[in-house]
Amino acid sequence: MALALHVIVLAAGEGKRLRSRCPKVLTPLWGRPSLSYPLDAAAALSPERTVVVGGVRLDEVREALADRADPAAPNELIFAHQAEPLGTGHAVLAGREALAGAEGALLVLYGDGPLVTPELLKALVDEHASNDAPLTILTVDLDDPTGYGRILRGSDDQVLGIVEENDCSDDQRLLTEVNAGLWILDIHPGLERLAGVTTDNSQGEIYLTDLAGLTVAAGDKVATLNWPAPEDVLGFNDQSDLAEVRGLLRQRILEQHLAAGVEIVDPETTYIDADVTIEPGARILPCTMIEGRVSIASGCDVGPFAHLRQGTVLEAGAKVGNFTETKNSRLGPGCKAGHLTYLGDAEVGASTNIGAGTITANYDGEHKHKTLIGESAFVGSGTVLVAPVAVGDGAMTGAGAVVTKGQVIEPGSVWVGVPAREVKSSTRESASNERGMLDS
Ligand code: UD1
Ligand code: MG
Repeated sequence: MALALHVIVLAAGEGKRLRSRCPKVLTPLWGRPSLSYPLDAAAALSPERTVVVGGVRLDEVREALADRADPAAPNELIFAHQAEPLGTGHAVLAGREALAGAEGALLVLYGDGPLVTPELLKALVDEHASNDAPLTILTVDLDDPTGYGRILRGSDDQVLGIVEENDCSDDQRLLTEVNAGLWILDIHPGLERLAGVTTDNSQGEIYLTDLAGLTVAAGDKVATLNWPAPEDVLGFNDQSDLAEVRGLLRQRILEQHLAAGVEIVDPETTYIDADVTIEPGARILPCTMIEGRVSIASGCDVGPFAHLRQGTVLEAGAKVGNFTETKNSRLGPGCKAGHLTYLGDAEVGASTNIGAGTITANYDGEHKHKTLIGESAFVGSGTVLVAPVAVGDGAMTGAGAVVTKGQVIEPGSVWVGVPAREVKSSTRESASNERGMLDS
């Protein structure tokens, strides 16, 4: 049976235990806000509506999600406001208006689980579609269930309800099957029943988890899907959880690249953000960090000790080596920037050699400016290019040249000195002695 599917993601909690500057669900994880991960996983199911419940900082959440990168994830999110964080059940009820008129099933995701996968969500939806229960809950077995809601079962193994850590008896605390924070329920009667949940618990909150007991009390069954991979549902409540989640997510990103045929020489010391694209046949050398939206073509070598930042594009066979940082820069095919270089807001043509220690001075204290370097140029060691500046095809700068702001170096010409001046062809021989030789 195909279900009319709606999604609600709970993202209004304050994340007090994390003590961080941003709302918990916007915690940056490999270049994306944490919340974008469950949203992308849910988008893969093509739901009819996706509601995001935000709290006092809803505007920040809305803004952070406006720029989601995944093209498979359309930006049609409906935002609902939970004025006060009165509990997970209360958060779902805050989305009721946004779900007005909706029929079918509602998939509830706790927004603090960034490791959730589309496969897991599909399995939960399929389970719900094939059982006769109005509520299906994903559960996992944890060696250490501390902090999670425990699943209570009767002697016939049927679910009786869920009890939160703070409300557990000593015996209940020993139970290891827990609520993973992923639910699917029939909108009717689920939301009507949820409106009947009280705040009769140690936190004085409206718990979504109480809907399980209410469903049983109404004579219906609560189904579960026990998921064998607990790491897929790990949430984070404090910095220690966050470090673990971040590490697992990092591992996943690296594994995707390895599986696609990217050579990562030392995954242990390689950090790659979620929105980095790398073609098979590229090689990433140790101690390398690649941040933001970056694209690396086949045949490129990156590292060791390279730092590629937002907006870097490396075309086929480009090489970025030791202690080189790039930002918002395009390096053409076969271009090399091997050592101790900063390239910011630069366009570099094919086969150009950027000598050791080259710096694009792209920021004048107020604005960023571009550096344009043509094809087959030779930028000598220690050149400073004060942007905006242009270096033509086949042009050359001498070691230590400072090419001043606004300068246009003609194709094929040679410039040396501080400030750099053109060397006419009669004096070129001495200039070539000055050029940086650390270029291979
Ligand atoms: C919750 C569950 C627990 C489960 C665990 C799984 C309840 C009562 N408890 O506990 O059974 O094992 O998650 O990780 O549901 N939120 C709101 N508004 C609120 C409160 C929370 O939007 O008023 C959001 C939070 O932003 C978060 C999610 O709901 O994304 C879960 O809240 P959290 O405080 O992390 O619940 P846990 O204590 O982890
Ligand atoms: Mg939590």
